[in-house]
Amino acid sequence: VAIIMDGNGRWARARGRPRLEGHRRGGEAVRRIVEAAPEAGITTLTLYAFSTDNWHRPRDEVDGLMELFEAHLRREWRRCARNGVRLSVIGRRDRLAPRLRRAIALAEERTAGGSRLHLRLAVDYSARESILGAADLARSEPALDPPTFSRLINRALHSEPAASDVDLLIRTSGERRLSDFLLWECAYAELVFTERFWPDFDREALGAAVQEFRRRNRRFGRLPGPAAGSGAP
Ligand code: IPE
Ligand code: IPE
Ligand code: MG
Repeated sequence: VAIIMDGNGRWARARGRPRLEGHRRGGEAVRRIVEAAPEAGITTLTLYAFSTDNWHRPRDEVDGLMELFEAHLRREWRRCARNGVRLSVIGRRDRLAPRLRRAIALAEERTAGGSRLHLRLAVDYSARESILGAADLARSEPALDPPTFSRLINRALHSEPAASDVDLLIRTSGERRLSDFLLWECAYAELVFTERFWPDFDREALGAAVQEFRRRNRRFGRLPGPAAGSGAP
């Protein structure tokens, strides 16, 4: 499952609060959803926290977000470790502040043993860049197939082992676009959009999205039913 956590700013504006207050409340929603995910049957959860294009936001907002990420990681890794949550951060690291990079390394190291849920936080993430990074690595691969390329994408993103395809992609706040998130991995993802702003997203909303997913009929290009698949080359 992957989530585009959107709507923090509008959540705050609707309450006459600064945007950063929305981001803070968004961090609380992250904690709730991470706790609820295993019970909802989720084994890998990738959360879009900061896109490469988000660097174009005002300096104050970017700085505030970076501080929140660091504080969140430093505070939450213990809870993650206790609950069997393995935390990884995907995306570019070279533009992050050294102290944030250290907080990421610490959280990843201390939660490495978690096997109940793999939580991937996407920070300075761009799907296009990750695909370009994989293409770069691919130059030294003698034989390239989709599983190999997926592995290279994950290597380009510092995420090992390779995460598999996304089954369910959720976006909050009523927007209906991908905004450069997991373009390769979402080839056959079911898309669920909810009007709710991210700070209001809770266990019930996650459950409803998973229910919606279970009602979908996934076909992967084939025909539905028991006779499907006989025309494969
Ligand atoms: C999502 O909320 C969080 C980040 C992109 C960092 P937004 O900040 O995009 O909130 P809106 O879309 O302005 O409401
Ligand atoms: C996508 O949301 C990035 C994150 C949720 C972190 P944006 O709010 O940045 O996306 P656009 O600008 O509406 O496409
Ligand atoms: Mg937004």
